[in-house]
Amino acid sequence: MQEKEYREVFQTEAVARLYHDKIYGKSTADESIWKVEQKQLEDVISRLVSRRLRYLDFACGTGRVIGFVGEHFESVQGVDISKSMLEYAKTKAPKAELICGDITADESIVGGDYDLITAFRFFLNAQDSLRYAVMKALADKLAPDGVLVFNIHNSSPSLLWFQNRITDLFLGRKKSSMSRDQVAKLVEQAGLRVLETKSTGVIPKWICMILRPKLWRSLDSFLSRKCILGKMGSHVIYVCGRQGANPDREKIQVMDGR
Ligand SMILES: C[S@@+](CC[C@H](N)C(=O)[O-])C[C@H]1O[C@@H](n2cnc3c(N)ncnc32)[C@H](O)[C@@H]1O
Repeated sequence: MQEKEYREVFQTEAVARLYHDKIYGKSTADESIWKVEQKQLEDVISRLVSRRLRYLDFACGTGRVIGFVGEHFESVQGVDISKSMLEYAKTKAPKAELICGDITADESIVGGDYDLITAFRFFLNAQDSLRYAVMKALADKLAPDGVLVFNIHNSSPSLLWFQNRITDLFLGRKKSSMSRDQVAKLVEQAGLRVLETKSTGVIPKWICMILRPKLWRSLDSFLSRKCILGKMGSHVIYVCGRQGANPDREKIQVMDGR
């Protein structure tokens, strides 16, 4: 994907509506995954984010994540390059300061010293140069003990990734995917380290539409606790801190859980 393209993909009202109403509409597969991720986020915030003053949601889009996480913080900012996406975010996160712009062009559009930064559904589909520029910019904006939490929603290897590879062959396209090693490298290049990962989606997400979401979540949760399968979730959340920051964090084992 070309650099200009990803910055422009979500600019129109039609795409923003599709993302808000269809992808994260009621009873969709992505909504089911999001329910699991909400629990994972709550757990991360309660254990690893000691100060709850300043929070930034990068690429906040329609406000899905900032609306949920923002409740835990005093000062809440969201930044996104698309005005159309931000229109939806206003309703989900009324107390947040929402900024329209690109921090890779001008870092000063947001503050700094953040205790938590989130960046969901961004890095996977951004092209390499944009991935790195954003990771570096976000790393620079973290407080010394701050935490960056982001996700990769087509992690390899996973059953969903494998299924996408097969479909790609027939459709002549290439869906993005990222392995855990690729992500760790990206994070380290920006001066951060992965403290913890959490995953879901060992069973491909579309199966929840057949099994019913509740049953899918229980089965997926059970399988995720099995050691080999636990590393094969399609949706992985990465929790990162600055390299060498907070000696207590060094004791945290890099682990995978739900
Ligand atoms: C798939 S959406 C994710 C929205 C939200 N984080 C979520 O998980 O629901 C990706 C978002 O990245 C935004 N985006 C793309 N390039 C950007 C950039 N350079 N700076 C800020 N936002 C950007 C798009 O406008 C879009 O809203």
